[in-house]
Amino acid sequence: MCGIVGYVGEQHPKECLIDGLKKLEYRGYDSSGIAIKNKDTIQIIKSTGKISDLEEKIANEKLIKSNLGIAHTRWATHGEANETNAHPHKVNRVTIVHNGIIENATELKNKLVNEGIVFRSETDTEVACAVIDNYYNGNPIETITKAIKELKGSYAFGILFEDQDKLYAVRKDSPLIIGIGEKENYIASDIAAIIKYTDKYILLEDDEVVELSKDEVKVFKDGQPIEKEVKTSTMTIEDANKGNYKHFMLKEIMEEPIVLQRTLNKYIHDMDQMADISDYEEIHIVACGSALYAGMIGKCLLEDKANIKCMTECASEYRYKKIIYDRKTLVILISQSGETADTIAAMRKAHEEGMDTLAIVNVKTSTIAREAKKTLFIEAGPEIAVATTKAYLLQVAMFSLIALKAAVSKGLEKNEKEILEEAKHLPEYLRKVLNDKEIFENVGKEIHEEHSAFFIGRGIDYAMCEEGSLKLKEVSYIHCDAYQAGELKHGTISLIEDGVPVFAIITDDRIKDKTESNVIEVESRQARIFIITNDPSIMNHHFKYVVEKLSDYFQPILIVPPLQLIGYYTALTRGLDIDKPRNLAKSVTVE
Ligand code: AGP
Ligand code: GLU
Repeated sequence: MCGIVGYVGEQHPKECLIDGLKKLEYRGYDSSGIAIKNKDTIQIIKSTGKISDLEEKIANEKLIKSNLGIAHTRWATHGEANETNAHPHKVNRVTIVHNGIIENATELKNKLVNEGIVFRSETDTEVACAVIDNYYNGNPIETITKAIKELKGSYAFGILFEDQDKLYAVRKDSPLIIGIGEKENYIASDIAAIIKYTDKYILLEDDEVVELSKDEVKVFKDGQPIEKEVKTSTMTIEDANKGNYKHFMLKEIMEEPIVLQRTLNKYIHDMDQMADISDYEEIHIVACGSALYAGMIGKCLLEDKANIKCMTECASEYRYKKIIYDRKTLVILISQSGETADTIAAMRKAHEEGMDTLAIVNVKTSTIAREAKKTLFIEAGPEIAVATTKAYLLQVAMFSLIALKAAVSKGLEKNEKEILEEAKHLPEYLRKVLNDKEIFENVGKEIHEEHSAFFIGRGIDYAMCEEGSLKLKEVSYIHCDAYQAGELKHGTISLIEDGVPVFAIITDDRIKDKTESNVIEVESRQARIFIITNDPSIMNHHFKYVVEKLSDYFQPILIVPPLQLIGYYTALTRGLDIDKPRNLAKSVTVE
């Protein structure tokens, strides 16, 4: 997903723009650029590759004096990742940066070409820029308000007008916040980009147009000025930095005990704070990627403990499928960023169907947090690494509590007190596991040259396998697959050959001997077995790691971090760009 930063104030904008783009690097990008303005002169510098490449280009140019500018990291959706398609784009009097997709760009472009507009890039953004320029009548607020009515799709725009010394912005579906400083103001895709300068921000709703000067921020809706609340972010500058860790991913894994404590504390002393979903007859759990895999664990717990029928579906399918439900149904959406386009669309579809929604979200300022009928916030703090770790773990912990609450409400769980007592010790059990990180570093070193790896388990253990498989593959680029342990022999076992790593997760007493049989099946075909379990009596194999045996509710909390660390250390040994894996973005705000 791209990043947007804008500045208007008394300083030269270059430092704030580049610094902001660097804080947004984690979102993933392929090119970047800045535009700085002084009276009617606009200087635009763009580059493919890293922000350091852009910095080099800037260093080799004589910059104009300026107190106003916009900057962008692009994650291409229309047109390849080259300098021409990089943002900012300028059409006559208007210069813009954009996050999102203009879905009717082709239709608009054809119309504008027929009117004589000549386009230089392949992007939908340049088309949007031309539409705004076409409407420009000297009044930016009126112009933007009219122009956006022509645009279909998603956008967060930073906009400069040739004859204006103010910064303009507007958003719909893509994230954008307004930073409030002293004699300077900002726009940014998220607070991490500007936390170094201010913790005061305004949340923009869809199609609210904002005008920023160094002394004033004005917000308009349908051309009329409106009042907006100035909020204070709890993020710290340290949150936005790596500290003494080599990568954000490791920093965020090691933060898991603290953020787990923070999230649990909100509820374990007062479970009345926890959402009670016990009167729903069916639950649809909808998300993408790791969030979906956290939801799969939630499904196992809700069905097993609270006896509530659940289905899990990836949001990109759910948003287009026929929703069949004939009973009181709740749709639970899970999203770290709260800005994943498919998950937003699935939530809106549920609302169109008249269904209740409950969101489990990390970013409090996000679209899903604002639009879901009810939201439970995990307290993970900002998660910078593209590969989610602490946020995923807290999503799982939230489901543990939701399932416990529902089971107790339905009279199906008699040991609430003991289970909550166990929850109080979870952070210390987790710290013990993380202190064994060298064990997992050695596994990473051992498997780092493999071409494939498999993860097998049954029931809730299979759900954890899906996350273990995704974690390893997305940061190490090793092809990984997760399989229900009983399913492997129906085809995939043909891929098992001498030394292929097979990770087996075994925590469910009721079916552990079945999974052990599957382990022996693959081991007899020379697979290299790595067991992660809560049962010391499980047979010894090539590798076995045993965690504290906990209640079913909280057992996953100790099983997944070893898989996260194995993924991290495998990628580290391979010398890869762990925090920003190729082709990936932290939040996929486009379809
Ligand atoms: C997980 O490591 C990936 N980065 C990805 O699967 C992610 O979980 C997915 O894109 C959902 O993101 P969200 O939680 O912000 O909606
Ligand atoms: N759709 C625009 C483009 O392809 C913006 C992509 C983004 O959000 O970075 O340039």
